[in-house]
Amino acid sequence: MIITLDGPAGAGKSSAARALASRLGWSYIDTGAMYRAVAFIAIEQGIPLEDAPQLARLVEKIRIVFTNGRVLVEDRDVSAEIRTERITAATRPVADAPPVREAMKHVQRRMAQGSNVVTEGRDQGTVVFPHADLKVFLTASPVERAQRRQAEELTRGNATTFESILESHSRRDEADRLRPVGALRPADNAVLLETDGLTREEVVEHLIILIEAQRKAQAQE
Ligand code: DC
Repeated sequence: MIITLDGPAGAGKSSAARALASRLGWSYIDTGAMYRAVAFIAIEQGIPLEDAPQLARLVEKIRIVFTNGRVLVEDRDVSAEIRTERITAATRPVADAPPVREAMKHVQRRMAQGSNVVTEGRDQGTVVFPHADLKVFLTASPVERAQRRQAEELTRGNATTFESILESHSRRDEADRLRPVGALRPADNAVLLETDGLTREEVVEHLIILIEAQRKAQAQE
């Protein structure tokens, strides 16, 4: 079974997707972390961020693994390095490049092959897994999303201001929505889940109910 969770930054996708996958014993794909890892390795290897063909080759080449909440590239833990402001900014041109997205699509489909998967990002239900068993689009109000991100940043020891997060989310949302390929939007048959005021556990409970309903519906087909 493939479950896609798409939505904007700070809607609670990552924490819910990770908790859901762990509860079900399924694989988890954090596609945002994949774009970040490619930007990080590209900078390290001196690949210009506007060189889309070379970036796309990098996507095919590097091996990204998600394990115990960590992101490993060729067995090296890059979880902290890929979340810096610098890498967040560098990821935008990488994620905007159509050849990179095309390569990512193939890699992500290969990663999902033959297993039960929760995959999370912007285009998972629309582009990468259009035949997913269940597509969910998570949303939350801008204020709630910024509050969540600020709390996350604090746990990482970063004292980012609420206003700067609000502003950076709104810029990223716009870039994500306007991207010609893989734009942020709910798939036509996605279930919309508004997460304002819900804890991570409550979001996971909602998702479990949706999965059970989908399983029943599939069993009756
Ligand atoms: O979810 P995140 O903040 O880790 O995503 C990092 C960047 O990658 C962000 O600019 C959106 C982009 N992204 C994307 O374009 N498509 C995806 N499937 C996932 C993330």
